[in-house]
This record gives sequence, C-alpha cells and structure tokens, in this order.
Amino acid sequence: MDGVTRVAHPLVQHKLTLMRDKTLSTKGFRELMNEIGMLLAYEVTRDLPLEQIEIETPLGKTMQPIIASKKLVFAPILRAGVGFLDGMLSLVPSARVAHIGLYRDPETLTAVEYYFKAPSDIADRLVIVLDPMLATANSAIAAIDRLKERGVKDLRFVCLLAAPEGIKNLRAHHPDVPIWTASIDSHLNDHGYIVPGLGDAGDRMYGTK
Ligand code: PRP
Ligand code: URA
Repeated sequence: MDGVTRVAHPLVQHKLTLMRDKTLSTKGFRELMNEIGMLLAYEVTRDLPLEQIEIETPLGKTMQPIIASKKLVFAPILRAGVGFLDGMLSLVPSARVAHIGLYRDPETLTAVEYYFKAPSDIADRLVIVLDPMLATANSAIAAIDRLKERGVKDLRFVCLLAAPEGIKNLRAHHPDVPIWTASIDSHLNDHGYIVPGLGDAGDRMYGTK
C-alpha cells in the first residue's frame, strides 16, 4: 500500500500477538508496548540522513557518520501514544517531545482536543506522531492538522494496529505523511473498534476499564 510500511519483524509480530490476548495483565501490556515502541523507533528512523564529521580515536583522526538533521520530535497522542514514548526515547534520548491531548467521542467518533504542548521550534524538525491505534484516523488527522498549523512540514505516523478504513482516511487527508504499522487488521466494527484488534489501548495500558 502506497505510503504504508508494515513492520514484519518477528519480534514485533510476536509481541503484538501477546498484546492482543485479552488475558494479558496491565503490567504486561504496558511493558510490551514499551518494547515494541523501541523496535518501531528503529524502523521509523531507518532512513534518517547522515553527515560526516571528523573525530579522533586513540589511533588518529577519522571522518565518521552522525545523524544530520535537527533533533527529532516524538509527538504522542494522549493517552495511549505515551506507551511508545519511553521505548522510543531510550533509542533517541535527545529527541524532544510534543504532547497532544485528544480523545475520541464514543458516539460521533470525532476527535475532542484538550491539550497541546510542543517545542517552540517544532516547525524546523522531523515530527514522529505516536498512537498505537489507527481506527477511523480522526484522532491522527486532528493531531497532524494541529502540527501543520504550527508550521511542521516533515511528519511521520507510527502505530501498532491500523484499520484499512483509517489508513485510507489518513492518506486522503495527509498524503504527505507516511505510516508505519505492525499490522493492518481486518475492519472496524460498528463502534469504531479495530477487529480483531486488541481492545481499548488506553484502558488496557492504564487499567481504567
Ligand atoms: C484511542 C487511541 C487513538 C484513537 C484511535 O484513543 O489511542 O487515539 O482512539 O481512534 P480513531 O483512529 O478512530 O480516532 P481514545 O479516544 O480511546 O483516548 P485514550 O487514549 O485517552 O483512551
Ligand atoms: N481505540 C482503541 O483503543 N482501540 C480501537 O480498536 C479503536 C480505537
């Protein structure tokens, strides 16, 4: 699918299967979300540009690569997106963080915004939006709208599960934003939940059901 990368790595697929199991504990769910966050960070940063700098090893001077661009920004959509954050920051510890508070109205499935806090120079940076669930995509679209209003031009979206309907909607609204996902599931049910999915990610992560 154009603009969509499915992360088929066996470790990701194995951990995702464990997360789908409804008998998994809140603690186990949170730990696996963190671990998969780390693995997805590896995939979504795979093509970051490098530049050569001169350093001196104990044996002499040498030109070696470092990441060229400005420090990137992770932008978790609250609440569930926060589950990816620590794993991602453990791989990219100097990244900045933009918090985007959104929840999905259970009746209309539209995104309700309640918080936005981002680095002041976010417009100059690569921003990676984090949310485990891409269902209708209303939340992802609202988050990306908000980031683009702040001048952000270079965006990527990372999730754990995507519904085909959500991918289509996000690609239609923001065709410039590539998507990374561990799975493209079957469909959305009548309540906008991903099937087979894993249930409500925020509730499972924080034990709020
Ligand atoms: C969930 C999930 C996404 C959104 C996806 O959040 O974490 O943000 O739903 O659905 P969509 O693609 O149809 O917009 P929720 O609204 O349950 O909020 P929470 O994370 O605070 O529980
Ligand atoms: N949000 C979730 O947490 N799960 C879904 O399946 C859909 C939206």
